[in-house]
Amino acid sequence: MDGIVLLKEDHKTVEKLFKRFEKAGESAHAEKRKIADAVIEELTTHTWIEEKIFYPAAREAAPDTKDHVLESIEEHHVVLWMLSELKGLDPFDERFDAKMAVLMENVRHHVEEEEKEWFPDVRKAMGRNRLSELGEQMVAAKKKSPADPLAVPSAQQ
Ligand SMILES: [Fe+2]
Ligand SMILES: [Fe+2]
Repeated sequence: MDGIVLLKEDHKTVEKLFKRFEKAGESAHAEKRKIADAVIEELTTHTWIEEKIFYPAAREAAPDTKDHVLESIEEHHVVLWMLSELKGLDPFDERFDAKMAVLMENVRHHVEEEEKEWFPDVRKAMGRNRLSELGEQMVAAKKKSPADPLAVPSAQQ
């Protein structure tokens, strides 16, 4: 499995959850809680494998992406703290939908930058073999991902 394809598949999975959240009715509190839990799990695992495997490998293969990688880590930091807040937030709380809305804005912006602004350069610099090697490593790393968003490295930096 190509590493960038794997990351883009994750992005699609999260976007589907976002759409479901947006379509859920004003009073669908239980459903929205469930979707938020799935988003927390997906994004914690996704940021974990990016930070542990993909980002360092990208910097090494394509040093010009350094600033993009550093900005991405700052964006992860914000997202991970929002995820940790959402974890303990009652879906009946008036701030719940607002927090999800801002989270979705942040993640959509972040994904757009990854996919449009710098993943293509990483693909060029790495080539097919390296990308599939990373894909395998990331599949394996998913199983070791923590459940706590604040256990992802950028949350504490
Ligand atoms: Fe990311
Ligand atoms: Fe990503």
